[in-house]
Amino acid sequence: MTAKLLIIEDNEQDQKIMKKILARSGFEDTSVASDGEKGVVLAEREKPDIILVDTVLPGKDGFEVCRELTQVRKVTAKVIMMTGRIDAVDADKARAMGAEDYCVKTSDFHALVSSVKKIAGILSGDNPQAIASAEKKEESPQLDSIWGIKKTNEAIRTLYKELEKKTEELKKLDKLKSEFVATVSHELRTPLALINGAISQTIDGVYGEITDLQKEKLTIAHNGAKLLKRIIDDLLDISRLEAGEVKLNKDIVDLCLLAKEVFDFFLDMAKQKGIVLKLTTLKPAITVVADRDRIVQVITNLVGNAIKFTDHGEVEIIVEDNEKQGICKVRDTGIGIAEEDLPKVFERFQQFGKKFGPGQEGTGLGLSICKSILELHNGSIFLQSEKGTGTTFTFILDKRE
Ligand SMILES: Nc1ncnc2c1ncn2[C@@H]1O[C@H](COP(=O)(O)OP(=O)(O)O)[C@@H](O)[C@H]1O
Ligand SMILES: [Mg+2]
Repeated sequence: MTAKLLIIEDNEQDQKIMKKILARSGFEDTSVASDGEKGVVLAEREKPDIILVDTVLPGKDGFEVCRELTQVRKVTAKVIMMTGRIDAVDADKARAMGAEDYCVKTSDFHALVSSVKKIAGILSGDNPQAIASAEKKEESPQLDSIWGIKKTNEAIRTLYKELEKKTEELKKLDKLKSEFVATVSHELRTPLALINGAISQTIDGVYGEITDLQKEKLTIAHNGAKLLKRIIDDLLDISRLEAGEVKLNKDIVDLCLLAKEVFDFFLDMAKQKGIVLKLTTLKPAITVVADRDRIVQVITNLVGNAIKFTDHGEVEIIVEDNEKQGICKVRDTGIGIAEEDLPKVFERFQQFGKKFGPGQEGTGLGLSICKSILELHNGSIFLQSEKGTGTTFTFILDKRE
C-alpha cells in the first residue's frame, strides 16, 4: 500500500507537476489544496500519511499551517515543508513548527520525491523499495534533503562560533601578557637605575679610591646592568606598542637631520671596529611627518645592527625622496641574512647565527619594534640581503599626512 498524500500549494503549475512526478514514483493517491485553510480541512477529512506544505501561501503562511496541523489539530501525518530557496533559518523554523523534513523545490522536484519516498518507507516499516530508494538517496552526491546541508551548516556555524570565542580569549590573553610585561618591565627600571647609578659612582671614585681589580669587576657589573636596561627598555617598548599604548608625537621633521644625529652617535663605534661609516643625503633637507624620537630610535636600531653585523667594509646611511615620500636606507657590507631567514626578520626574538661576545648582545626585538613604529606611522620597512655580501634596510615615510 502506498502512502496517501496531500499537497498544500497555491501555484497551479507546481501542483500539477508535483502530482504527476509523485504519481510516476507510485504515489497516486494525492489530494491538493490551494491554501492553508482548505488544506487543514482536507487533512482532517482525508487523513493523509504525508502532507507537503509550501512555505509561501495566501493567507496563513506555510509555517503557520504546519504548526496548526502538527500542534493544534495534532494530525498523525508527517509534514514536509517545501521552499523555493535554501535558507537555514527557515529550516530551523520548519523544524520548530513540527515539520519532518524541509525540501528545496527544484524543477524536477527531486528532493521532494526522495523525501516522500523516505518518509513513506519509514511509515510502512519494511517497504524494501522505499528503503532502498532512501538509502540510494543517502549515497547520492547530490544532497536531496536540506537537512544534510543544514546539518553541515550548523556544524560549521558551531565551529566558527567556537573559533571566534577562542580568538577573543587569545586576544584577551595576549593583551594581558603585554600589560604584564609592560608592568614588570616598568617596575624593574627603577631598581635597575639605582644599581646602575651606584655602580658608576663607585667606579668614578665618588665613595673613595678603588683598586684596579675592583674597577675591572665593577665595570663588568656595569656592562651587565646596561645590557639589562636595554633588554627591559625593548620589552617595555614592544609590549606598549602591542597593547596599542604608544601615541605618536608627530611633527614635521627633517630625515637628513635625524640621520646626521644617529651618524654622529655611531661614528666612534664604527671607527673602533675599523668600519667606514658614511652619510649620504641627496638633498639639503627632506621633511616628513613623524614622531622625531621614534624615527631616531628606528635609524639607531638599523645602524646599530649594521655595525654589529659588519666586520669589514662600510655602513652607509642614505636619505633620499620621491614626490610624496621620504626614504632612508641603511646599507652594510656585513654578514648578510640567509634567504630562509628573511621572512622571519621582523618577528620578535629572532636572532640568526648569533655569535656570543662583545658587541653581539641583543634581544631580537629591535627590528620588530622598528616595524611596529613604522606601521604606526603608516609607513613601511623592508630589506634586501645576501648572505656574505651585505644587507640594506629601507624605510619609507609620507611627507604629508
Ligand atoms: N644588518 C644586518 N645584517 C645581518 N643580520 C642582521 C642585520 N640586522 C638584523 N640582522 C639579523 O636580524 C636579527 C634581529 O635583529 P634585531 O631585531 O635588531 O635584534 P638584535 O639586534 O637584538 O639581535 C639579528 O639578531 C640578526 O641576526
Ligand atoms: Mg638590533
